[in-house]
Amino acid sequence: MRNDRPFRLGVLGSGKGSNFVAIAEACAAGRIPAQVGLVISDVPDAGILSQAQTRGIPQTFLAPGKYRTKLDEAAEQAYAGALQEAGVDLVILAGFMRILKGGFLQAFAGRVINIHPSLLPSFPGLAAWRQALEYGVKVTGCTVHFVDQGVDTGPIIAQQTVPVLDGDTADTLHQRIQAAEWQLYPECVAALARGQVIVRGRQTVAGP
Ligand code: GRF
Repeated sequence: MRNDRPFRLGVLGSGKGSNFVAIAEACAAGRIPAQVGLVISDVPDAGILSQAQTRGIPQTFLAPGKYRTKLDEAAEQAYAGALQEAGVDLVILAGFMRILKGGFLQAFAGRVINIHPSLLPSFPGLAAWRQALEYGVKVTGCTVHFVDQGVDTGPIIAQQTVPVLDGDTADTLHQRIQAAEWQLYPECVAALARGQVIVRGRQTVAGP
């Protein structure tokens, strides 16, 4: 609770929204002491929006602007404004396929997190499970981290390993990583909502 109101989450996603569902269900079950205040997508028919609608959670499409891989300046302002208006304390990227830059990150300094489907710093960028499979690693996983101006470079909050099995395809490996994500991301959000994550430079440590 902050100022006698629940800790509030804002979720940004471009895809099917399975991580959002895991987080929303953990909130509903009381495993995360928070509520989802707003879901925003840059894709008008993204599954994440219908998942939010089904659960009665406020959701909206906001146009990303003129670029393909990032939000333009006006869109960053619109996204930040909508999240501020909704009283969001923590911004959760859940499959949001655009890079956030200065303006948005300044508005939510130290309050934006992401989940990435590899053990960072290995395999940043797109389709990280495919990169891991093609490289031939025997263990990969997922990483929850704070978002900074780089791509998948911010301080790491937690990681979960996932084995690469003989005969794995990109799809089977991705499915196994996603199952790990649905455990790890809600746990991290719960720790953040409880104020139990302390950041010191690149290091994050468990608080009280
Ligand atoms: C996840 O695999 C996550 O690691 C990556 O995007 C994917 C989102 O999936 N950042 P979903 O929309 O949560 O199902």
